Amino acid sequence: MNRLAGKVAIVTGGGAGIGEAISKKFAREGAAVVVCGFPEDPVEAVVEEIQKAGGRAVAYTGDISVQEQAEACVKAAVKEFGQLDILINNAGVFPATGTIDKYPVEAFQYMIKNNIYSCFMMTRAAMPELQKTRGNVVSAGSEAGWMGIPENTPYGGTKGFVHAFMKGVAVEQAKEGVRANCVCPGPVDTAWTHKETGPMSAKMEKQTVEGTPMGRRGTPEEIANVYLFLASDEASYVTGALFFADGGVTNSKGPHGAEVPSKLKQEPEGELDLKHEHDGHAEIRKQDQWQHLG
Ligand SMILES: NC(=O)c1ccc[n+]([C@@H]2O[C@H](COP(=O)([O-])OP(=O)(O)OC[C@H]3O[C@@H](n4cnc5c(N)ncnc54)[C@H](O)[C@@H]3O)[C@@H](O)[C@H]2O)c1
Repeated sequence: MNRLAGKVAIVTGGGAGIGEAISKKFAREGAAVVVCGFPEDPVEAVVEEIQKAGGRAVAYTGDISVQEQAEACVKAAVKEFGQLDILINNAGVFPATGTIDKYPVEAFQYMIKNNIYSCFMMTRAAMPELQKTRGNVVSAGSEAGWMGIPENTPYGGTKGFVHAFMKGVAVEQAKEGVRANCVCPGPVDTAWTHKETGPMSAKMEKQTVEGTPMGRRGTPEEIANVYLFLASDEASYVTGALFFADGGVTNSKGPHGAEVPSKLKQEPEGELDLKHEHDGHAEIRKQDQWQHLG
């Protein structure tokens, strides 16, 4: 507890999935949190739960891929809590899977906007405040930005941008005392990795789990633990890192997960009360329709 005492953090995409876990974890560790999401996202619900548990949080709703709204989010943090120490660029989207010859151009554009513009706009807007506090940025990378995943190539490309961008920011801003890192998860137990609630086909879902040496998805809380370390002063010498939290998947070849006995596939119980029904990005959730184009 209190590993982030006195710190102020923005968590983008903080109302759902991994972002909900990061928001709640950071608040438990003493940070004041700006929980940021689209207006349709359940950010207010997450804020209420944090406050009920005795933590400090406010909601910011807007589209942070838009320059003015990203700047307004940073201003809201400083107005409410007086400073900004940590920016978590967690917001992202995963609208479709399919081979590149069939991949919908609109889905590609949607990812460029929400995975790349949002990370750039928030980092740009937050940097002057992070320089004042000698703060840090942690962004959502992915196994998909590191290795090739069939039928998932444009998503991986957007995460490859995030990896390279954070490394550059790390080198450039070291002289200002600002650190920048990525958490690169493997498959995580949010809406995205289940065929019923995300764009993965049954085959892709099976391969995703069995291709992971640990034979299971990570929990949002397990990923939030890594964000916590990188955002905290314990990581004071860590910058420009791609920190993989992936059950071994980026080092694997073949369906090793299928061989893991079921007793070793038990997820840790965790401490956070997470609302899985909130997972998935708002615009797509509304459409109630995912695209798998084979
Ligand atoms: N789930 C996984 O298996 C996995 C694996 C690797 C990396 N990641 C990364 O982790 C992050 C979170 O994934 P998740 O599964 O928790 O997703 P999620 O859909 O549950 O949560 C993401 C949230 O970000 C919000 N968001 C997206 N664009 C936004 C914008 N422009 N402005 C404001 N809010 C915006 C969405 O509405 C949504 O609420 C993503 O960046 C994703 O690429 C996820």
